[in-house]
Amino acid sequence: MDTTPSPYAVNGGHLAHSWLGRLDLRLIADRVGTPVFVYSEEQGVKNIGRIKSAAAAAGIEKRVELYIPFFPNSNPHILGPLRKFDSGLLLQLPSEYKILRRFGFDKFIVSPGHVSDADIGFWAQTGYPIFLSSLDEISHLIRIDPRASINVRLDSLSSGKPGIKYSQLHDLKELLAINKRPLNCFELYCGSGNSVDEMISILEQVFMIFLTYFPEANAINFAGGYGFAYDEWNEPNKHFDWHRYFQNLRDIADRYRVPAHVKFLFEPARDVLADVGALLLSVKRSVISNGGANQVLTDGSRTLMPSAQYKQRHHHVIFLDAAMAEMNSNGMRAALRGRGILRHDYVLPGEYAVPEGIGPQNYLVILDVGAYCATQHMEFLSIPPAAEVLIDTEGSIHLISSHGGELDKWRHLLAQKKDLKAARAETVSAVE
Ligand SMILES: Cc1ncc(COP(=O)(O)O)c(C=O)c1O
Repeated sequence: MDTTPSPYAVNGGHLAHSWLGRLDLRLIADRVGTPVFVYSEEQGVKNIGRIKSAAAAAGIEKRVELYIPFFPNSNPHILGPLRKFDSGLLLQLPSEYKILRRFGFDKFIVSPGHVSDADIGFWAQTGYPIFLSSLDEISHLIRIDPRASINVRLDSLSSGKPGIKYSQLHDLKELLAINKRPLNCFELYCGSGNSVDEMISILEQVFMIFLTYFPEANAINFAGGYGFAYDEWNEPNKHFDWHRYFQNLRDIADRYRVPAHVKFLFEPARDVLADVGALLLSVKRSVISNGGANQVLTDGSRTLMPSAQYKQRHHHVIFLDAAMAEMNSNGMRAALRGRGILRHDYVLPGEYAVPEGIGPQNYLVILDVGAYCATQHMEFLSIPPAAEVLIDTEGSIHLISSHGGELDKWRHLLAQKKDLKAARAETVSAVE
């Protein structure tokens, strides 16, 4: 038996330090079944509060505005607490806007990547700022809405990522001057998962762009990219050091003499959302040892959160006994198998140390899956999506997405073929 400790699963005591330790997981497993994503409203409140108090400590709370991207989680129920903090949401698609309006959200910015003229028209009539990524798109907005505020997205990485490149800044400035349009705000996307030092070093670039090209701008959007340490157990160590970041930001802004009315916008996703969610799975067999790697069969699938595999993200895992008490992971190392047929259907990358005697009476909970996980689940291999449950700040447990029926994957399959010449246009969205 291989008893080498896994860097990703340490023995015991972790559940108690998490909001999961205060939860009736048994109730959730019995009432909803597994797989189920479980979210904590309280943790979301804590994460936004941490950023807000760091801004206050740096004396910039009146200048800081948070817009949490919707797409990394995309369940409106989970984003409810944002409103308590006067935080907004970052959108990219008209359908996101439509569904969020139904849930009562009304504070948005839009940063969509490249968009069609029709989408520019859609956003222009909402009046929300849209961060456009090419000179052509900006020209179109100016043509259709001479009074629209002009907001642009720059790509600091010079990558394939949507965004005006540094080499085009001069042309952008000219385009705005010819049309007598001031820039309201520019957004600089700098990649994801950056350390505090990396994010601080980018600040110099941001303020240099402000000073050189757009000193008239009313706001600077620092976008996302704030790292979250998935390999840490300790909550403060997982999170981005907003305190140090904001202190540096204030000092650098002062050094560049950025006027006090200029607002600072931020779009953090994983730092706010990752540890808000966990995925509860059931174990379905005792360890399978077919000569190769040992495998623990679960009722999960890589399709429930594909980015864990393709980003090689080793989420922490806590194994639970039948009474949902945490078990010591001191047995063999095994891969966590999903229920699909494909060779690669492992819920997480690599191997984990699993408890001795693990079997169908056990559960496991995968931590820090609140961002870029449930939202990505694919309907591949006919595996239906997982349900979602939210624990509110009073501790009450609510179902917020159901598992759906066994045939859910085929929900839009038409019983009869429809002759397109005879049918009306099938463009009406489900949320309209
Ligand atoms: C424009 C934009 N803003 C914010 C984010 C969120 O980034 P993070 O999760 O690293 O905070 C992303 C992620 O892709 C993004 O593209």
